[in-house]
Amino acid sequence: MEGVAPPPSNDDSTLARTTKPSWSRRLAWIGLAWAAAMIVLIVLNQPGETPVPGNRPIEALAADYVSSDTCRSCHPGNYASWHASFHRTMTQPATPQTVAVELDGVSLSYDGLDYRIDRRDDAYFVRSKPVGAAESAFGKPLQIVQLTGSHNLQIFWLETGDRREGRTLGQFPFGYILAEKKWAPMVQTFLVPPGPKAVYSKGDWNNGCINCHVTHGRSTFVEGSTFDSKASEFGISCEACHSGGREHIERNRNPIRRYALHLFGGKDPTIANPERMDGPAASLACGQCHSIWAFHNAAASVTWNKENGTYRPGQKELDLRWVVQPQGTDHPEARAELKETDPHFFGDRFWGDGMVRVTGRELNGVLASPCYKGGHFSCLNCHEMHPDKTDPVTLDTWRRNDQMKPKMESDQACLQCHQDMKARLTQHTHHASSSEGSRCYNCHMPHTTYGLLRSIRSHQISSPTVKETTEHGRPNACNLCHLDQTLAWTAEKLESWYGQKSPGLSKEDQALSLAAQIILKGDAGQRMLIAWSMGWAPAQKASGYEWLYPFLIFELNDPYAAVRFGAWKSLQTLPGFSGYEYDYTQEDAQQKEAVARAYQKWWTEVRKPSPTFRTQTLLESTGMFRQDLLDRFLDQRNDRKIYLAE
Ligand code: HEC
Ligand code: HEC
Ligand code: HEC
Ligand code: HEC
Ligand code: HEC
Ligand code: HEC
Ligand code: HEC
Ligand code: HEC
Repeated sequence: MEGVAPPPSNDDSTLARTTKPSWSRRLAWIGLAWAAAMIVLIVLNQPGETPVPGNRPIEALAADYVSSDTCRSCHPGNYASWHASFHRTMTQPATPQTVAVELDGVSLSYDGLDYRIDRRDDAYFVRSKPVGAAESAFGKPLQIVQLTGSHNLQIFWLETGDRREGRTLGQFPFGYILAEKKWAPMVQTFLVPPGPKAVYSKGDWNNGCINCHVTHGRSTFVEGSTFDSKASEFGISCEACHSGGREHIERNRNPIRRYALHLFGGKDPTIANPERMDGPAASLACGQCHSIWAFHNAAASVTWNKENGTYRPGQKELDLRWVVQPQGTDHPEARAELKETDPHFFGDRFWGDGMVRVTGRELNGVLASPCYKGGHFSCLNCHEMHPDKTDPVTLDTWRRNDQMKPKMESDQACLQCHQDMKARLTQHTHHASSSEGSRCYNCHMPHTTYGLLRSIRSHQISSPTVKETTEHGRPNACNLCHLDQTLAWTAEKLESWYGQKSPGLSKEDQALSLAAQIILKGDAGQRMLIAWSMGWAPAQKASGYEWLYPFLIFELNDPYAAVRFGAWKSLQTLPGFSGYEYDYTQEDAQQKEAVARAYQKWWTEVRKPSPTFRTQTLLESTGMFRQDLLDRFLDQRNDRKIYLAE
């Protein structure tokens, strides 16, 4: 299957990258040059000329794949937008050009070990020794061979140092948070309970990340802890979304065909175009990676492991895998097996009512949206993968803004289908038309998903209810913006505005702010969502910001690193605390000092009398916590261990 020219064992990415573009440009002009070019490529790739790394996964074309460089000459515009995207740089060999920060000379300590990185030519090596030991105690250097991510977080992978383990990767225990220019232990980049020191073990990249982080990956388990992993291309490239391009380029080398296609509206059956697909197929083209999925059975996973599968964009089903919705009844056997082998599978990924709560798995939300039933709803209603000439946005703005289509960060995203809502907007929302409380997204796609150390909008379109909060612990959209309000207040409005029957509520929910209660007594996942919302400008506008300080400062000492990070970022949005320095990765004692320091600053330099200091927000009129309420809710805190599997 593998090894259409150039031969797989020789097709290392570095070489392919530097040699292919010029050739493919010629290809467009001289069809016959193809065969000659291939011969040259094979010759250039002869063993001995450029050694193929044996200590990391490599690029090797298989099946019908030809690589993005091959598409460039005929589609330079599409190539340029893709090249700007974070998709392209998802998986890269580690070189001075690809690392997000210069690694040479970096020294870090964690869990009893000192790490030191040194550069030799264009390669980076890590050595470690017990903390406090002499320089001479540094062990054998291991090369940093591969990177994951380039937008929010960059992760570094090491060779294992054991030749027999081939292309298996080990983990460098720190990640680099790009926006903060900060190193953090990997465990502290996830929402997981304090305690474990490592998140990944040897081979996890080969066995797990490869499934969504490259184009057409083959994990290729050999034996023991040995993998021989390959991908048709690192990163998410053209053919991940358009299917293999071999036949397409062969046919289009004929200029007459090209002309003929234009006459027939340019539709080309040799390649998949998500834009021409119905909603379900287009969504699946993205959802093959952006979803929570499982294998049908062990045999399917073995096939996938060896050769990937036969699914290509445009098809209606993933061949070896299925998209797992907790509420579904499909695939009963695989479902039962999943529950048995991984009892936490659903709890780590979904809310109790089946709404997905981790990022990067948007298809699950889209599938469960009422809009999906119409057959036209897909990722492409709101996102575009190539801004076209009519879209004035710069590629950098586009990629940093979730690759949205023009105007689709506004109500337009919904009004494109729900046109009638335009005329009855304020009647429907009960907020002024310019208010943040009238934005469709804010009520129907609230920030109840977690990932990458922040809250993200849910991709399941739903309407706010009190029940989602009382029954499943998910803060509803109204209380995520009206942070100072009680649940009873929301229940009353939902009843009088939308006719939703109000359920019976506890005394606390009648008298005290829901958000203030949750950030103290909720579980870590809930605390994070509230901590994030406390830094959200629309919520500060609706609820006042003065009363938020004591809560956010208090949470700088949360046992969960992710929650501390969220609280710190939100605290920085408040007057007096912009750019406030605090290291969320420090030990408990230093966190406590940071809390004391921040309270001191707030109390003496920032605090002003405010009407938001009141019992409803759990505060005295001075702005201090009401001690009885603080004690009560901390006592009640839900210490359930939360692992969010993003
Ligand atoms: C089911 C598919 C899937 C699997 C498996 C998967 N990821 Fe991801 N990953 C994604 C998607 C989709 C995103 C984009 C999420 C977003 O932007 O919110 C992502 C984003 C990331 C990012 C952020 C990248 C950046 O540029 O900031 C990191 C880091 C990451 N994943 C690490 C991992 C690691 C490590 C593994 C393996 C242990 C893994 N992922 C497994 C789908 C997956
Ligand atoms: C992440 C998925 C994805 C990747 C990667 C991707 N595309 Fe696309 N492509 C799309 C989608 C979706 C459309 C539909 C229009 C849009 O969203 O901009 C599209 C449209 C196109 C079109 C039709 C013309 C147009 O602009 O509408 C061409 C040609 C194309 N892509 C070529 C490429 C090439 C060449 C690459 C790699 C260099 C590439 N695409 C990478 C998803 C992708
Ligand atoms: C030799 C030139 C050539 C190469 C190389 C080439 N294409 Fe095309 N492609 C065309 C032509 C011609 C069309 C027809 C319409 C047009 O001009 O856009 C087309 C159309 C497309 C479309 C739109 C199909 C439709 O029906 O909407 C996509 C998507 C696409 N190409 C992707 C790719 C990808 C991905 C690659 C690389 C694997 C690639 N192309 C390589 C010439 C080429
Ligand atoms: C082969 C797997 C794969 C496919 C197919 C895929 N994606 Fe992605 N997508 C990823 C991964 C992995 C990331 C994380 C990249 C990063 O941020 O570094 C990502 C990131 C994104 C991002 C956020 C980028 C950022 O960092 O902010 C958006 C938006 C997105 N994808 C949308 C889509 C859409 C829409 C489609 C279908 C047209 C699609 N993706 C197809 C794997 C995939
Ligand atoms: C591609 C078209 C499309 C888009 C875009 C779209 N919807 Fe829908 N939506 C539908 C269809 C079709 C239905 C199902 C109507 C039915 O069941 O009769 C629906 C149903 C709904 C429902 C449930 C209606 C009910 O009676 O319970 C809500 C709420 C909703 N949409 C809100 C939104 C919001 C908010 C957005 C934007 C974030 C949005 N939709 C975007 C097509 C769309
Ligand atoms: C109704 C519009 C809409 C649809 C449909 C939609 N998205 Fe999004 N998407 C958004 C908005 C809005 C954001 C920004 C979310 C935020 O700011 O938290 C976003 C953000 C994202 C992100 C980035 C998350 C992050 O890290 O911040 C990814 C990845 C993504 N969408 C993928 C998809 C995929 C894949 C699909 C289809 C399965 C899809 N989206 C469908 C509107 C939409
Ligand atoms: C994204 C933020 C946001 C969301 C979501 C939101 N609102 Fe509002 N709301 C506001 C803002 C801001 C105001 C202040 C006046 C204005 O600017 O419209 C307001 C004003 C109000 C008012 C009148 C003033 C007051 O405080 O008594 C009520 C009542 C209200 N909202 C109820 C709700 C309910 C119920 C929901 C959920 C169905 C909701 N809001 C969702 C932002 C929001
Ligand atoms: C202040 C919060 C809020 C905002 C903003 C909001 N909605 Fe709604 N919407 C609701 C609630 C609550 C319901 C559920 C009513 C019920 O219980 O049936 C709902 C129901 C709907 C429905 C189904 C029932 C119907 O009336 O047709 C659609 C469609 C819908 N919303 C679309 C939209 C669109 C489109 C926008 C933006 C233009 C929007 N909504 C803005 C709160 C809001």
